[in-house]
Amino acid sequence: MMEENKDLKNRIAIITGASGGIGSAAAVDFAKNGASGIIIADIDKEKALNVISNIENSFSCKCIFVHTNIGNVQDIENLFETAVAEFKTLDILVNCAGVTNTFSIDEVNPQQWDKLMSINLRGTYLCCREAFKIMRANNYGKIINISSISGRIGGYVTGIDYVTSKGGIIAMTMSLAKIAGPFNINVNAVAPGFIDTEMTKDFTHFNPETVPLRRIGKPQDVASVITFLASEKSSYITGATIDINGGTFMS
Ligand SMILES: NC(=O)c1ccc[n+]([C@@H]2O[C@H](COP(=O)([O-])OP(=O)(O)OC[C@H]3O[C@@H](n4cnc5c(N)ncnc54)[C@H](O)[C@@H]3O)[C@@H](O)[C@H]2O)c1
Repeated sequence: MMEENKDLKNRIAIITGASGGIGSAAAVDFAKNGASGIIIADIDKEKALNVISNIENSFSCKCIFVHTNIGNVQDIENLFETAVAEFKTLDILVNCAGVTNTFSIDEVNPQQWDKLMSINLRGTYLCCREAFKIMRANNYGKIINISSISGRIGGYVTGIDYVTSKGGIIAMTMSLAKIAGPFNINVNAVAPGFIDTEMTKDFTHFNPETVPLRRIGKPQDVASVITFLASEKSSYITGATIDINGGTFMS
């Protein structure tokens, strides 16, 4: 039997939004690749506990759930304190928590703008900031942010607030990559196209025939790239945003 690949052997990771489609696929892929500790940071406890039992039934990986509203500063501080108390260190952060909408510009009023930004953009930033403090002291770390094809092309049907947040994540990734590079910390992003998850279940307009690879993306399509960016296989990549969209947008 071929030996299983262990690119993330003994690594400790926080994955925000890991109760959801892409985040949970990343959590399973991390465990499969040898991660020994995963912290699931989400607002959905029920789904998180399912992800944890799936992982702990199949892999030798300790998983914990930390209820975290990524829009809440105290929750984020508590998340990182809990991670260090539980696992002593942190090697990988994946910022996957996010919300979307299909609002018109009239619906994206100041309250809506601030609400979405506090999760998608400020939440990502504050998690990066907390992780950076720990990783800088360790002179090691991998941060992977989740942007979107929307941030590349201005979106199809998503609100201007969502599109802006995902464009901002690309810029934030480059800025932090420059700040964190001297401390041996890689900071990268992925920009998925249409991926089949809870988030896109009502986006029935999408026609897979418009995708050069002629199919909708699966969470695993994104998870395997996140694992690559969390591993030493990508050790000379930083500040990059990798498109995962079946060829819908090419740059
Ligand atoms: N599905 C797609 O087509 C697609 C495409 C591009 C980018 N993305 C991005 O991928 C990421 C994951 O999305 P997904 O497709 O897996 O969707 P999903 O809805 O399955 O997962 C999103 C997760 O984020 C969590 N979440 C929402 N608000 C939160 C908050 N305030 N605090 C903590 N957790 C919160 C949800 O509970 C859920 O578990 C998102 O950032 C999304 O914008 C998705």
